Amino acid sequence: MCGIVGYTGSQAARDILVDGLRRLEYRGYDSSGIALSDGERIRTVRRVGKVDELAQAVESWKVASACGIGHTRWATHGRPSEANAHPHSDCSGKISIVHNGIIENFVQLRDQLQAEGHVFKSDTDTEIVAHLVEKYYDGDLIAALMRACERLQGAYGLAVMHADHPGVIAVTRKDSPIVVGSSDDGDAALVASDIVAILEYTRDVVFLEDRQYALLTPGNIEFFNENGKIIEPEFTHIDWDAENAERAGFPDFMLKEIHEQPRAVRDTISGAVKNGRVLLDDLTLDDDDIDAIDNVYIIGCGTSYHAGLVARELIERWARIPTTVEVASEFRYRNPIVSSSTLVIAISQSGETADTLAAVRIARSKGARVFAITNCVGSRITRESDGTLYVKANMEISVAATKSFLAQIACLMLIAMFLGQKKGRLTTRQVKSLYYELRETPAQIEDILQDTDVIEQAAKMIAKAHSVMYVGRGIGATVCNEGALKLKEISYLHAEAYAAGELKHGPIALIDEEVPVVAVVTDSPTRMQTLSNVQEILARGAHVVAVATEGDTDIEDIADYVLYIPPVRDWCSAITASVPLQLLARYAAVERGCDVDHPRNLAKSVTVE
Ligand code: G6P
Repeated sequence: MCGIVGYTGSQAARDILVDGLRRLEYRGYDSSGIALSDGERIRTVRRVGKVDELAQAVESWKVASACGIGHTRWATHGRPSEANAHPHSDCSGKISIVHNGIIENFVQLRDQLQAEGHVFKSDTDTEIVAHLVEKYYDGDLIAALMRACERLQGAYGLAVMHADHPGVIAVTRKDSPIVVGSSDDGDAALVASDIVAILEYTRDVVFLEDRQYALLTPGNIEFFNENGKIIEPEFTHIDWDAENAERAGFPDFMLKEIHEQPRAVRDTISGAVKNGRVLLDDLTLDDDDIDAIDNVYIIGCGTSYHAGLVARELIERWARIPTTVEVASEFRYRNPIVSSSTLVIAISQSGETADTLAAVRIARSKGARVFAITNCVGSRITRESDGTLYVKANMEISVAATKSFLAQIACLMLIAMFLGQKKGRLTTRQVKSLYYELRETPAQIEDILQDTDVIEQAAKMIAKAHSVMYVGRGIGATVCNEGALKLKEISYLHAEAYAAGELKHGPIALIDEEVPVVAVVTDSPTRMQTLSNVQEILARGAHVVAVATEGDTDIEDIADYVLYIPPVRDWCSAITASVPLQLLARYAAVERGCDVDHPRNLAKSVTVE
């Protein structure tokens, strides 16, 4: 997705902007650009491809400027090209603008502006905003931006400069995140679409609300509501360490984040159960509310949806509440059966996924109580839901979600226990015992991470395949869904997850010596049945990578590679068995020479439909 960064202060804006754009690379993009104001005019450089290309292009650029805006673009309107890359400008060339989101009525606005004589140089929806600001500008930049925004339908995060206002950046947002902050030394003001871009300079920030405006000047920020009245929004202090956003010696963020999983799970579950009682204070449901809940709906996209699949299994198992899981993009258009007796759990790592947000709005409009599970403080979903439970995965940079997934599962396990206890299905003793087992999982992940040789060998075999099948049952099947998605996302191999029992109803026709199978056969009530399916697979000549429980030596006779996890109850294997599959995908991607952290065509947070 697109990224915005802006700086006004006393240092060289060029270097700060390029650095900020590099930090936004993880979001996925296809081109980038920066504009600097030198006190007289605005100069712009844009490049297709990596930020490195842009950095090279501006290296010899002799513009003395301490104010500028930058952007990474992920094409929506118009192909990736220099002309379509941001920043965009108006007819006079005095206005420069970067934009995240989509302007829905841009065709209509462009026709009107063209009829008035404005000349467009790109295919983007963004450029119309520059021309609208030009149209309404009469010496007051923020007022012109406000009038321009009145005309816009859709989503936008915007940062605007005007050559006649050196050192000034005007920003606003609607349905697309914008964060602003003054530098810790008080000399500068910064804006970004994502805190990671400016964290090195500021820790106390304001996440703008929809239709709020901010005017940045060196060391100062003024805030306005949409009527131009000065407001004083609350600052949020960010604890995240800028260093945390670096790779800490790992070759890629994905591997670093896989290794951070023990801490992510530990932090997420810490203190959640006391004396056998699940304490989820943020799940603000009193006994009457709980009594009234007769079904649960879980919504999310991608990896978050897969965390929901695990949750369904456990909410039904422990609380006996019928639970549906659905991808948000389907839920939002399907008129789902949701009412005031439905508890809706919306899962989103970023808290900004457009489909999930739309689904949340629909669920609430139907009277359901919606609780969000997210990793991002201040994200949109936290403001659109009735309550939020934060997972404590900390900043996740790699596009492929790993630690946020395990933290989501851990958090959902607590919710399942909470509902089980409140519905009178789990005793205090059972909760104590479940929590005890859950608390063991971080150490078990550490064990798995200690020795990954066999995983690496298996990945070399997988990397040569064209297609890989993942099979398992129950919790094992949910783990397979995420394992197959990881492989697809980062190694570009076709992978498909199937409930093992369904294999014989179709997909077994695909199996031969060319299609390796990853089988999750960890300890579970259905292990024997899954093993029978593995025999059927072997009979078709396929190579098998098994995820099994330590001590299960029989499996070594039939599988080519065995990836062991420590002995755990099957529900805990949703956490532990996921780890070897993440690593398998990551090593296969490296073997195939793929850019692990920046997979093609994917973005970390998908803020458009
Ligand atoms: C994108 C990312 C996935 C992620 C999905 C949902 O597609 O590439 O890794 O699972 O969005 O994101 P969310 O932030 O809502 O969990």
